[in-house]
Amino acid sequence: DDVAWLKAQLASNSLALLASADAWHELRKGINPRTRERQLFDLNRHHGISHYPEEEATNHTALPCPGELLVEEHHSNYGEPWAGGRDVFEFLANTSALAPRDQVLEIGCGTLRVGLHFIRFLNAGRFHCLEQDELSLMAALRYELPSQGLLYKRPMIVRGGDMDFSKFGDTVMYDLIYSSAAFLHIPRDLVWAGLERLAGKLRPQTGRIFVSHNIKFCTRLGGDECTRRLTELGLEYVGKHTHDSLLFNHYEIWFEFRRPKV
Ligand SMILES: C[S@@+](CC[C@H](N)C(=O)[O-])C[C@H]1O[C@@H](n2cnc3c(N)ncnc32)[C@H](O)[C@@H]1O
Repeated sequence: DDVAWLKAQLASNSLALLASADAWHELRKGINPRTRERQLFDLNRHHGISHYPEEEATNHTALPCPGELLVEEHHSNYGEPWAGGRDVFEFLANTSALAPRDQVLEIGCGTLRVGLHFIRFLNAGRFHCLEQDELSLMAALRYELPSQGLLYKRPMIVRGGDMDFSKFGDTVMYDLIYSSAAFLHIPRDLVWAGLERLAGKLRPQTGRIFVSHNIKFCTRLGGDECTRRLTELGLEYVGKHTHDSLLFNHYEIWFEFRRPKV
């Protein structure tokens, strides 16, 4: 399989894991990496970059992007390695048996750490996201989509923090709704308001809602009350999953919900 293949490539090229940070840095030999801060400084003064002079400076760039995004500061905005986004996609796509024609909604997609992988996989127009943070939206729209060549996928990314999904249309039916590391930051009543608005838009039986980290919006009400409110919305708790990261010692916890009846 893929993992065995990669391990064989590492072995045949003698690329073992190194024991220490010093050993890692010794490999640089003549490579002088710059910090993001330094890279940004150099970018802003055009150090070592072929660039147009003053009067031409604004005429050649179709989508001017802030330097902070070009040096990918936003890849560290939420702490965990950027590579974890791919783990989340793999887990959700496999567990929900996602197909390219499916319709997906992410609540709080941030800088598209996870969303990018969905956008690449899904057919055009099939990825929706509601996100409230301006800096994250700038990173998603001004850097990630154009730099990844994904503009043609026409994802619908809407600014908002009030669980108002009306801009996505009245008739949309979701096969997957997920929230990665976002519900834990959102007040309980707002999460419930969101679920109330979305329950009828989740495809009955096959559609899934996945929430990561914890479901304190539900558990803190107490088990019976939590189940009662879910039932009132026509939703059902399916179970809890853990998923290991491919690249670092980390696992993520996911809670799955479905809509059993039409
Ligand atoms: C920890 S980040 C996770 C971002 C992304 N889902 C990921 O896994 O990389 C949480 C995101 O939820 C967003 N968020 C928080 N409250 C929100 C709300 N009420 N509506 C929409 N987005 C919200 C934040 O702006 C932030 O982008």
